[in-house]
Amino acid sequence: MDRQFATSGDRGLLFRAIRVHSTFYGFQPVAPTPATTNAIAIGDAADLDKAGFIKGQAGDKPVVAVKVKDKVTAVNPTCTHKGCVVDWKADQQKFVCPCHGATFAADGSEPTKPAGKPLATYTVKVEGGKVLVET
Ligand code: FES
Repeated sequence: MDRQFATSGDRGLLFRAIRVHSTFYGFQPVAPTPATTNAIAIGDAADLDKAGFIKGQAGDKPVVAVKVKDKVTAVNPTCTHKGCVVDWKADQQKFVCPCHGATFAADGSEPTKPAGKPLATYTVKVEGGKVLVET
């Protein structure tokens, strides 16, 4: 069986096809993929700066964002003991549960008895003048 090699014209066409293919499929710079988030604005950054905290709702979840020493954190204010809603006490820099007295740090950590677990937290950022929470 005779093998037939491509003519120089055919090779040129082949190389052009490979180059076009590489350009389109192999070596194109990859565009950055936009981050997919479900960030929800719970309020204005100006209000957070003014009061030191802001309450909001991210879908069906309650959120309290606090700002302490330029660090913003966001928690679900539902107490991990029996489900009361904790209050942010700016003078103590803590969340305090009105039902049985448990306290939590601004980031929801450091639970005191009778609560045994930290508050649930959310990723939060301030962008475009808004406080954005990801649930
Ligand atoms: S419900 Fe919060 S301490 Fe009991």
